[in-house]
Amino acid sequence: MKRQRIAEILRSAAVDTEVTVQGWVRTKRGNKNVSFIALNDGSCVANIQVVVDPTKIPEERLKPVTTGACIRVEGRLVKSMGSGQGVEVQADSIEIYGTADPESYPLQKKGHSLEFLRDIAYLRPRTNTFGAVLRIRHAMAYAIHEYFNRNGFYYFHTPLITASDCEGAGAMFTVTTLDLNNVPKTAEGKVDYAQDFFGKPCNLTVSGQLEGELGALALGRIYTFGPTFRAENSNTPRHLSEFWMIEPEMAFYELEDDMELAEDFLKSLIRYALEHCAEDLEFLNKMWDPGLLERLRFVVENDFKRLDYTEGIEILKASGRKFEFPCDWGCDLQSEHERYLVEEHFKRPVILINYPKEIKAFYMKQNDDGRTVRAMDVLFPKIGEIIGGSEREADYGKLSARVRELGMNERELWWYLDTRRWGSAPHSGFGLGFERLLLFVTGMTNIRDVIPFPRYPKNAEF
Ligand code: 4AD
Ligand code: MG
Repeated sequence: MKRQRIAEILRSAAVDTEVTVQGWVRTKRGNKNVSFIALNDGSCVANIQVVVDPTKIPEERLKPVTTGACIRVEGRLVKSMGSGQGVEVQADSIEIYGTADPESYPLQKKGHSLEFLRDIAYLRPRTNTFGAVLRIRHAMAYAIHEYFNRNGFYYFHTPLITASDCEGAGAMFTVTTLDLNNVPKTAEGKVDYAQDFFGKPCNLTVSGQLEGELGALALGRIYTFGPTFRAENSNTPRHLSEFWMIEPEMAFYELEDDMELAEDFLKSLIRYALEHCAEDLEFLNKMWDPGLLERLRFVVENDFKRLDYTEGIEILKASGRKFEFPCDWGCDLQSEHERYLVEEHFKRPVILINYPKEIKAFYMKQNDDGRTVRAMDVLFPKIGEIIGGSEREADYGKLSARVRELGMNERELWWYLDTRRWGSAPHSGFGLGFERLLLFVTGMTNIRDVIPFPRYPKNAEF
C-alpha cells in the first residue's frame, strides 16, 4: 500500500478508501462502545481521528495505546460524523511500535508552558507549537535557497573553523586539540599554538562574510547559509551562542542596492510563509499571538522607512521618552531604541544607515565625512535588529589604514586585504539572523523557541 502522511490523507479526503496511518498518539478517549485516538505524524498541525470499535479491536490491545505511544493503524477513511474533522479512520487493525508509560512520559497534558518545554527540548518537537515552528523553519530555509537561486546567487560554503575575527567583537569559541590540563608554552610563557592542530590560534566563525567577499569578487553574487558562533555571555531572548546566518554578498552593489535587496528578500520570505505555511501560522496566531498574521501582512504590503543614523538619534532625543540606556550621537542603539523607532515612531520596519564608524566593524565603506560608514541595519517590530550589513571598503589604502588604526593584526588578514589589491570592486552584503527572522515569522518571543536545540550559556545538554 502507498505510504501516505496524515497531511496528504486529510487534504485528499478520499473517503471509502483503505488507508494506513503511522504516528504518535496525542490523546485517547472514549467509552466501552467506542474509542477515539487523535494521531499526529508531524506532517501537519491537525491530528487524524482514529475510531476504534471494541468488537473489532479488543480493549486489551488498546490499553497500551496511551498519549505519546507510536502506532500504525490500518483502516477505512470515512466521512466523520463528529464535528472538528471532515474525515476519520475506522480502524481495522492497530500495531504498536512503541509504548509511552503514562507514569513517566512528560508530555501528558496540553498547554505546557514554553519554559517547561525548553527543559525537555528533546521532546518538544512532538507538541503542536513546536511542530508548527519547525515546519515553518524548514519552509523558510527552503524559501531562502529558492529566492537566491531565482536571482542569480550561488550558494557559497564558507568555513566554520577560521583564524580570523570578522566582527572584531572578540567573543569567540576557541578550537583546539591541545591538552588543556597540560598546555605547551613558549619560552615567553605564552600558549604555544605552533603545537596545536592548525599550528595557530583558531576559532569557530562568527560570520562567513570575509570569505563570502572572496566568493562575490569572483562569482558576482553569492550567499552563505550556515551556523555561526558567538561566545558573548548574553542571556537575552534575542541571542543564541549558535545561530544560523544568511549572508549574501554582491559585487557591484552599492549601499542603495543592498537596501533594496534586503527589503525585497525579507518581503519575499514573509510572503512565502503566508502562502505556504498558512495552517501553521493560523495555529500560532490563535494560540500565542493574535496580531501575528496582521503584522506579517503589514510588512509585506508597506515600504520600509530609510533613515540616517543621525536623524534616528535626533528623533530618539526629541521623543521625550526615558530610555534605560542613553542614546547620544555615537552610541550603539539598544533594542529599546530600535523598537521605539519602528513600533512607535514610524510604525513600520526601518533601515538605518550611515552609522558612526566607531561602533561598526572595520570592513565598512568609509563616508567622506570621516566619521560615518556606509552601514545598514534593518530594524523590525518586536525584534529590533534583524539584518546587519554594509557596503564594503573597496579601497586598499583606506581599509589597511583602518585595520592598523584599530590595532588589528594586518598579517592575519593578508588574504582579505589582497582582494583590494587585485581587481577590487565596489561590493556590499548583509547578514540576516535566521532565528531572528523566525521570531518575526512565528510570533514566538524567545529565540530559544525557534531552533530545535538552542545553545546558550550553561546549556548544551541536548
Ligand atoms: O550584525 P551582525 O553581527 O553582522 C555580521 O555578522 C556581518 N558580518 C553580516 C554581514 O554583513 N555579512 O550579525 C548579523 C545578524 C544580526 O542582524 C542578527 O539578526 C543576527 O545576525 N545575530 C544573532 N542572532 C542570534 N543570536 C546572536 N547572538 C546574534 N548575533 C547576531
Ligand atoms: Mg549588527
